[in-house]
Amino acid sequence: MQRTFILLKPDCVQRRLMGQIITRFEQKGLNFVAMKMLRITPDLAKQHYAEHVEKGWYPTLEGFITGGPVMAAVVEGLEAVKVVRDMLGATSGLNAVPGTIRGDFSSSRQMNLVHGSDSPEAAVREIALYFEESEMCEDTPTISKWMLAADE
Ligand code: CDP
Ligand code: MG
Repeated sequence: MQRTFILLKPDCVQRRLMGQIITRFEQKGLNFVAMKMLRITPDLAKQHYAEHVEKGWYPTLEGFITGGPVMAAVVEGLEAVKVVRDMLGATSGLNAVPGTIRGDFSSSRQMNLVHGSDSPEAAVREIALYFEESEMCEDTPTISKWMLAADE
């Protein structure tokens, strides 16, 4: 099992899409192991998006991501990092194919509703930015035997 970090961005919260997005991840078979609402500070935004801080568009990204409450979550599953990224689709909602979250709900390059870690290393780093290990609600749902074969 692999963990990845998900952030439902301020546009997702404001547009009342949290439920639909969470439902998609649940339907896919991912297990939610942690979840909380918070308001991202400029300092946390710079840590989260460290790779983009020097980009010309970073200030508008920081304004967006700090502009309202977000929902941070950790989900777990086989190849969770890749599975979540595939479910999100391309960065811009204009390029994301229909069927993906961004493809179905966004027409924006910035307001693309959901963040997902882009590698297992990024997932470890991002989970630690937002959560303590003690906040992880590890569990093996009893339905698991109907979601995956024993040898998968
Ligand atoms: O989120 P993802 O990994 O697909 O994209 P990214 O290239 O790592 O960019 C991080 C986030 O910055 C995006 O999800 C957009 O919300 C935002 N962004 C932006 O505001 N302007 C851009 N030109 C590119 C990305
Ligand atoms: Mg990225």
